[in-house]
Amino acid sequence: MKGCCSFMELYQYIGGAPTIRKIVDAFYPKVQAHPLLAPLFPEDLTPIMEKQYQFLTQFFGGPPMYTEKHGNPMMRARHFPFPITPSRAEAWLDCMKSALEDVIPSEEMRAVILHRLSGPARFFINTEE
Ligand code: HEM
Repeated sequence: MKGCCSFMELYQYIGGAPTIRKIVDAFYPKVQAHPLLAPLFPEDLTPIMEKQYQFLTQFFGGPPMYTEKHGNPMMRARHFPFPITPSRAEAWLDCMKSALEDVIPSEEMRAVILHRLSGPARFFINTEE
């Protein structure tokens, strides 16, 4: 399954926009409840949830919503203001794993998605513990 589909196919496979929305809605309460991640985020997550929805849509092969609204993603650079340690990257992935478990029934599909997010998450590490 790891080589199963192009990014375009992945977006359709998982059910498109409604599924991405559900993932984002499941993910951020977990981030807000995580002791390593919560301090990095503002209380009102609504604007970030919208940006994440737009970004993941395009990341998984849907329409380029993020770029249309906010320009070149340059996602690593956008994370520079925040101290992303190795353990915060793992915490982010743990929250995402748990959100995917809430939303996507197929274990194989969850593994594909998590695999595709683990590269960027580790790439965003910008400081030691
Ligand atoms: C590695 C661990 C990560 C941490 C600790 C983290 C944390 C953050 C923080 C603190 C913000 C900004 C909140 C604010 O604007 O006040 C943010 C924004 C964002 N993050 Fe992450 N993030 C991580 C990984 C990722 C990954 C893997 C992705 C997607 C693949 C991602 C996508 C985004 C997006 C789309 C935004 C909004 C960017 C914008 O302002 O336009 N993040 N993240």
